[in-house]
Formats: sequence, structure tokens, C-alpha cells
Amino acid sequence: MDIVNIIVRVVHIGSVVALVGGTLFMVFAMKPSLKLVDEQLRQSLMTLARKRFMRITHTAISLLILSGAWTWYQNVEVYRNASKALQAVLGMKVLIALVIFAIIFGVAAGALKGCPARWAWINIALALVVIILAAVVRSMHMAAM
Ligand code: HEM
Repeated sequence: MDIVNIIVRVVHIGSVVALVGGTLFMVFAMKPSLKLVDEQLRQSLMTLARKRFMRITHTAISLLILSGAWTWYQNVEVYRNASKALQAVLGMKVLIALVIFAIIFGVAAGALKGCPARWAWINIALALVVIILAAVVRSMHMAAM
């Protein structure tokens, strides 16, 4: 494994940590804590926190797409010759990742109605599925080696 692949892997996993960790912090720590302050302050704090977190989110999504595409490109021959099961699991992983991004942009644009925290929990659950699928792909690689 060369240095570029190591860096790309760190970037991919680091972006997952920022995206999922940040979302968990927002719904699990930030949102309930804001119930302790008055309505006006709560609105201001939430707007500011969301705005700043969106910057992290946009960066993480861009890095995930770039690093994911790079990894795919590097492994393209491996995936082409892999079992149908591995191809299916990998395809599902990337598809669900795209659904996560669509939910984030849909909520930010106001196209997805309902409580943003509920969408955030849905995304956390989907992210968990993506992480599990990535682990399955990896273990299938190892088994095939
Ligand atoms: C369009 C977006 C994405 C693409 C194209 C992509 C693509 C990939 C590829 C090709 C791999 C290597 C699989 C292998 O052969 O072992 C991978 C690994 C991984 N991905 Fe993604 N991914 C994307 C988004 C995400 C998201 C949103 C998450 C989590 C929420 C995620 C979590 C992971 C994890 C945990 C690994 C395993 C890393 C490792 O063991 O090295 N990915 N991804």
C-alpha cells in the first residue's frame, strides 16, 4: 500500500468521523441543551451552529466523494473480477451514501419537510448501515485474497 492510498483512506474515514460525529453532537448534545435557554437565544444559537456545521458537512461530503471515487478507481480491476455479492454490497454502500447526501441537501434546501432532528437520526442510522456494508466489503476482499 503506497502513501497516497494511506492518505486517501485517512481522508475517507476522517470525513465519516466529522460527518457522523458532528450530526450526533447536534442531535444528542446541542439540541437538548438549547431547551434550557429562551426562545430568541435558542433560535440564534441554532442558526449559527447549523450554518457553521454546514461548512464541515459540505467539506466532508466533497472529500468523501473524491476519496471514494479515487479508491474505486484504484480497485476497479479488483471489483470487476470480484463476486457478484461483493459488487452488490459495494453498490448498495455507495447508493445509501448518496441517499445520505440527498437528505442533507434536501433538509437544507427546505425540500424535505418535518423535524430536521428526525432526518438527522435517519441519516445516523443510514450511516451505520454504510459503515457495516464497508466492513463487509473489506472482509470479502480479505477472504478472497
Ligand atoms: C459517494 C460517496 C462514497 C463513495 C464513492 C465511497 C466509496 C468507497 C470505496 C470504494 C471504499 C473501499 C471499499 C473496499 O474495497 O474496501 C470505501 C470504504 C469505506 N467507506 Fe466509503 N464511499 C462513499 C461514502 C461513504 C460514506 C458516506 C460513508 C459513511 C457514512 C463511508 C464509509 C466508508 C468506510 C467506513 C469505509 C471502509 C474504509 C476502510 O476500511 O478502508 N463511505 N468507500
